Amino acid sequence: MLTIAILISGNGSNLQAIIDAIKKNQWPIKIACVISDQPEAYGLKRAEKAGIPAYVFQKKDFPDKAAFEHAMVNQLKQDQVEWVVLAGFMRILGNTFLSAFPERILNIHPSLLPKYPGLNTHEQVILNGDKEHGVTVHLVTTELDGGPIIAQKKINLSHNETVASVKEKIHKLEHQLYPQTIYKLKR
Ligand code: GRF
Repeated sequence: MLTIAILISGNGSNLQAIIDAIKKNQWPIKIACVISDQPEAYGLKRAEKAGIPAYVFQKKDFPDKAAFEHAMVNQLKQDQVEWVVLAGFMRILGNTFLSAFPERILNIHPSLLPKYPGLNTHEQVILNGDKEHGVTVHLVTTELDGGPIIAQKKINLSHNETVASVKEKIHKLEHQLYPQTIYKLKR
């Protein structure tokens, strides 16, 4: 059994895709908990519905970033988490967190990294008239969206794409690639 935790800040459609894939394929993967830094995140409801313990850790409730990260790490260690999966978690993790799970934190990013790290990737793709786009799963390091690439999937774009059309295609792609990549993680 592989024990993972999923960190979110919002909708949690990737969380849902992972929950569904584990159930459908009966993969030996346990989602020990979901953590959100936003109390209103819809993903918390998804976790609740799936019977997964869900916790909110808000940065403002702690004296500093290290204390905030330390509290999350404590929870994850208590739940014996082996891999941390970031799925739309909108915070940059610091050394307190990274050093607790060396090379064991995954992120999914909506671009063909190293192209377009950071925010607004679809807007940049449209602006530049790119012919292809995609998603990347990578290990999290101190460099924003810069850790070693674990998996990548590409799509071709037509000449009349919009930010909305691209966003929808990329989400679909994420919902396939992220569960498949998690399934292959080493124990
Ligand atoms: C995804 O597009 C992911 O690539 C990015 O944040 C978004 C999260 O979407 N890191 P959701 O909350 O899983 O729907």
